[in-house]
Amino acid sequence: MANVVVVGSQWGDEGKGKIVDWLSERADVVVRFQGGHNAGHTLVVDGKVYKLSLLPSGVVRGKLSIVGNGVVFDPHAFVAEAAKLKAQGVEITPDVLKIAENTALILSLHRELDGFREDAASNSGTKIGTTRRGIGPAYEDKVGRRAVRVMDLASLDTLPAKVDRLLTHHNALRRGLGHPEVRHETIMEELISVADQILPYVDRVWKILDNKRRAGARILFEGAQGTLLDIDQGTYPFVTSSNTVAGQAATGSGMGPGAIGYVLGITKAYTTRVGEGPFPTEQNNEIGEFLGTRGHEFGVVTGRKRRCGWFDAVLVRQAVAVNGINGIALTKLDVLDGLDEIKVCTGYRLDGEDIDYLPASQGAQARVEPVYETLEGWKGTTAGARSWNDLPAQAVKYVRYIEELIGAPVALLSTSPERDDTILVTDPFQD
Ligand code: IMP
Repeated sequence: MANVVVVGSQWGDEGKGKIVDWLSERADVVVRFQGGHNAGHTLVVDGKVYKLSLLPSGVVRGKLSIVGNGVVFDPHAFVAEAAKLKAQGVEITPDVLKIAENTALILSLHRELDGFREDAASNSGTKIGTTRRGIGPAYEDKVGRRAVRVMDLASLDTLPAKVDRLLTHHNALRRGLGHPEVRHETIMEELISVADQILPYVDRVWKILDNKRRAGARILFEGAQGTLLDIDQGTYPFVTSSNTVAGQAATGSGMGPGAIGYVLGITKAYTTRVGEGPFPTEQNNEIGEFLGTRGHEFGVVTGRKRRCGWFDAVLVRQAVAVNGINGIALTKLDVLDGLDEIKVCTGYRLDGEDIDYLPASQGAQARVEPVYETLEGWKGTTAGARSWNDLPAQAVKYVRYIEELIGAPVALLSTSPERDDTILVTDPFQD
């Protein structure tokens, strides 16, 4: 029996919510290990839609849900999300939800700084297109060793000095950017006003997880964003500020690498991205419009329209390598139903040469040209299929071709947002 890590193998928005929900029913514990409330996970449970940004998807099913130390945690966003879920009938109590005591906080000044920078960069054409949630600035403070962390909310004697230290840095930045300074009292009030609503959930998460692992519990690590948004492996600088790859599941939850058993890469049957940055197979035309409309490609968190394009096997092959993906969950195949022909990117041309990888430099990433293989589409529908026999032959061919190109098998095939519309090939927990 293996613990399972779920990661996005593209630029996020691969449909992780449904798969994580599907797996979480079989799991004992669900853990978030990176990112923050920039993520958007949509779950459809018994026809009811739940939109989660910060909390592990397991809360909806009453599974022990853990916010690991690798997350950046906005306490006010937490209170708002918990209230929304409670109003939908989800029970959120300290028995079900634990927040790692050593998790760095996102404060209003991080959100503001994210916005100031994006606004200034818009004018010079250098913006990242962030979610403006303060994710990057909060990770900067964590690595800069000046973050306020969750457990600091319990130590009102040491908190003022920590806030002062943080403000020395931030007010210098704000002055430089031409914005008013933040007052010490403002941040203290922001933290004190929410402390009582956070502290009951705070715990020694590494120990809880260690005990669970020793007791043989099934642990599901829920990744957010995608591999191409990874701070090291992604399309830098157009990335998020955390490691989104599977190895982070251990570091970001306080477990050893041996705790990770099976790595499941969630992979959309075509490609999308939000925000700025290179996207070799982007279709800025009627194909892109078709994929976006049919696939409802709008951001859960920001409502932004996603950029759409053909499946890029180069990127996913690289994601399989850098995550150690054992199998993929292929999602949204039905979006391609009815197309006369479907293109798949099998390699790139860079400065007149054929290459089979995404180069690391920003300039080269912008210059690569996709090399396509064109496949015949299918007339029937794949939507709602529950066995391979329900799929048109040409659709099966498409799936097999993708497997071959990326060097990983399809473990799960998702054929609609409904959880039961899933074809299981390999149970990741049993592999
Ligand atoms: P940040 O994570 O808000 O700093 O944004 C950095 C980049 O990651 C931007 O391109 C965002 O659009 C992208 N991003 C962040 N979270 C998600 C997500 O959950 N899905 C897809 N893209 C995301």
